[in-house]
Amino acid sequence: MNAAELRKKFLDFFASKDHAVIAGASLIPENDPSVLFTTAGMHPLVPYLLGEKHPLGQRLANCQKCVRTGDIDEVGDATHLTFFEMLGNWSLNDYFKETAIRNSFEFLTSARGLGLPPDRLAFSVFAGDETAPFDHEAHGLWIGLGVPEARIARLPKKDNWWGPAGQTGPCGPDTEMFYWNGPLPAPAAFDPADKNWVEIWNDVFMQYFKDKDGAYSVLAQKNVDTGLGLERALCVMTGAASVYDTELFRPIIRKIEELTGVPYAAKNFKAYRIVADHLRAATFILGDDRGVAPSNMDQGYVLRRLIRRAYRYLMQMNAPAKSMAAVAEVIVAHYQDAYPELGRNRDFVTAQLNREEELFGRTLDAGMKIATKYLENARGALAPEDAFRLYDTYGFPLEFTQELAAEKNIAVDADGFHRLYAEHQAKSRAGAEQKFKGGLADNSEATTRLHTAAHLMLRALRQVLGESVFQRGSNITAERLRFDFSFDRKMTPEEIAETERLVNEAIAAKIPITCSETSVAEAKESGAIGVFDSKYGAVVKVYSMGPYSKEICGGPHVGNTSELGTFKIVKEEASSAGVRRIKAVLT
Ligand code: ALA
Repeated sequence: MNAAELRKKFLDFFASKDHAVIAGASLIPENDPSVLFTTAGMHPLVPYLLGEKHPLGQRLANCQKCVRTGDIDEVGDATHLTFFEMLGNWSLNDYFKETAIRNSFEFLTSARGLGLPPDRLAFSVFAGDETAPFDHEAHGLWIGLGVPEARIARLPKKDNWWGPAGQTGPCGPDTEMFYWNGPLPAPAAFDPADKNWVEIWNDVFMQYFKDKDGAYSVLAQKNVDTGLGLERALCVMTGAASVYDTELFRPIIRKIEELTGVPYAAKNFKAYRIVADHLRAATFILGDDRGVAPSNMDQGYVLRRLIRRAYRYLMQMNAPAKSMAAVAEVIVAHYQDAYPELGRNRDFVTAQLNREEELFGRTLDAGMKIATKYLENARGALAPEDAFRLYDTYGFPLEFTQELAAEKNIAVDADGFHRLYAEHQAKSRAGAEQKFKGGLADNSEATTRLHTAAHLMLRALRQVLGESVFQRGSNITAERLRFDFSFDRKMTPEEIAETERLVNEAIAAKIPITCSETSVAEAKESGAIGVFDSKYGAVVKVYSMGPYSKEICGGPHVGNTSELGTFKIVKEEASSAGVRRIKAVLT
């Protein structure tokens, strides 16, 4: 059994139980500032859990790529990952606990499912508190399926309540399923603290809403939201000792062995697993169609931390230059059938990893020497000024410094660091640009014209610079268009002139702009560019400008390219590593 077979088995099983199989969404959530990454399959489904009708019905299933950094310190053990795939099934106001639990049990134990022996399974249910009572129904259902009482733990909210994904949203009590991956026979009683019990699946009974004051209300509809960890399921099914010993990681580990010459063995499990996990997560974040570049903000900063931490461990194993990109190539090759976006964005992935290596590589040695000196003088606690200097001058993320300090049993004053960071931000904010949010500032005529020009420009840039150019963000006001795109060097004056010429040619051609509504699959088929994510089955708008542009977009646009005037690029500069920024106007 490999990952592809497991994905298929799961989706076929739920399809046979009348679930519509939907595509996974982007790792970068759309229209949701409350979380940086998609952390669970339910995340893109929140509107439907709250009552909106899903076009494909009330029973859904999919496989969703997820990033969670909450468990980053546990990466290195047998089961924790920052990137993982989640197999999920949903009931939107359709079946509830009984069918959910029966389906889970059937998939876990039957031959058409995973065929796991029931005597190696254990379960947990919500013990009850002031928000909701003990889940006697879930408990009774497991008993009815033949599970011994001793294998069912009753646990409090911190263990058996899931959600919301952000600050607010749908949530509820859950029941979790565990598999004994230790020496046989499995113990008669379930001890949730014993790491040999691996949590593989979670059925959430989503029937509450948590508001911004932390209060819970009952949702208008009852939903089921489940999540089965693909890597963990593959691990237990194939009898692997850890998720890192499954076919998903073997080629990555082999590549690291080849690059470093250091054999993968117990004494370096942690380093190996951190490198493999973090580079897999980084490859998926960079390789997303909405992928971000490393930066000092938001998703970009999480990404930077993952890359820099992986790099440090690789350096300790004396890996040669460009090893991160070499590992990423293996990851792309291994995953691109299931995730074609990785193939599409391969050049961006490797260019960004090499760029970050160059940026950080230059200061890592010097920074490590200074850090060692600071830590020698630290006497139990590192001064926040020192942690901040390591960040500011040598690019050491705080967590990175904390990790170095922890190796020497030294604490770091994180509050002090954040205070200095905030002071520094306040100082540098004067004159600095507003946080880059993207989108249109308004729907005025001038803004709309520039928005149409942005489409023509993207197409022109791809023609002049190549198909590896993708939009990375845009911000349009009535005065100017600001546009970020993936490209890793300065444009030449000739390239800028040619881009302008192509846009002005499209304007001169007086092309009528048409908008059609279609499915994502058809849009893709027709050659439209844009972000093809979630919304499988949903209708998207495609704006066409004759032979000059075809893009998935929400609009608005002008009626004819002739309305634009003359297009001019006024500035072309670096935005972040591997991303260029253009400012352009219409006169
Ligand atoms: N949303 C649930 C989880 O992530 C299924 O565990």
